[in-house]
Amino acid sequence: MQAPERVDPQPVAACCPVDKQSNCCAPDAKQACCGPAATKNGGCGCEPKSGEFVESAAAGEAVRSAVREHYSQVARAVTGCCGGAGCNASSLQLGYSERDLASVPASADLGLGCGNPQAIAAIRRGESVLDLGSGAGFDCLLAARQVGPEGRVVGVDMTPAMIEKARANAREVGAANVEFRLGEIEHLPVPDACTDVVISNCVVNLSPEKSQVYREAFRVLRPGGRVAISDVVATQPLPPQVAADLAAHAGCIAGATPVEELRSILTLAGFCDVRVVVRPESRVFIRDWIPGSGAEAYVASATIEATKP
Ligand SMILES: C[S@@+](CC[C@H](N)C(=O)[O-])C[C@H]1O[C@@H](n2cnc3c(N)ncnc32)[C@H](O)[C@@H]1O
Repeated sequence: MQAPERVDPQPVAACCPVDKQSNCCAPDAKQACCGPAATKNGGCGCEPKSGEFVESAAAGEAVRSAVREHYSQVARAVTGCCGGAGCNASSLQLGYSERDLASVPASADLGLGCGNPQAIAAIRRGESVLDLGSGAGFDCLLAARQVGPEGRVVGVDMTPAMIEKARANAREVGAANVEFRLGEIEHLPVPDACTDVVISNCVVNLSPEKSQVYREAFRVLRPGGRVAISDVVATQPLPPQVAADLAAHAGCIAGATPVEELRSILTLAGFCDVRVVVRPESRVFIRDWIPGSGAEAYVASATIEATKP
């Protein structure tokens, strides 16, 4: 994996309007518009670089299959683990309260998160919430309590066993304002402009098409809607053997995007007020994901916030 190259959103935005970024950069203007690595694919538009750059559709599909297989096994097992060998931080360590834990079935919290999107989302009564990669439904069920009966929560996950588990958990607590849809976060099964807040916990790093994920988040948000996400980001270039390792990808490490690149992706998707804040304290639990790998030296959990103008 090459070192991350800085993409300054300013020249990109100056090159063509944000809503035209995907197709207004002529190939001969791309280098100036998007930076040198973006010319790699030819054609129009600014492509993301390291961290997301998947050389072919086949490579992207291999990543998706490995991720789906891993989380199918997690859903069917009694305990959950994001990392290759060790489980993620306990939810208390991530900032969830004892009350949060007591309010959902124990099997909704598989210990797969890397942060607490609830803490930054400021979810209000009556709002419409969408959770990208909802797993067994932990954050959706907490959000369902916050939005109340007049609000609505939708969780999307591409792993059928996770969707089944989440639906069973919702039934167990009688949550009538939450539903779980099988689908990919790159192609959300949700109409345009119907969501107030998009949350997600430790999922976007798993996608081989992160720009597409954030474009979809933008599409489904209402104007003024917001993104409140916890995810793993790269704070240093990943060792090449780690970047190419499908198990490390499914373990929320190899797909981490460099922080500056992530800011660019969100800006290019059309978001404003983009804030990516690295949480250094997360290195304590990331150390246990693949013990001995040293992953905590180059990835960390971050909070990602942005607004749709
Ligand atoms: C690390 S787990 C996090 C689950 C949940 N957010 C939590 O905190 O418990 C990742 C989840 O995202 C789902 N997932 C990964 N990539 C996805 C994609 N491209 N589209 C939809 N779901 C995806 C997996 O099936 C899995 O349930």
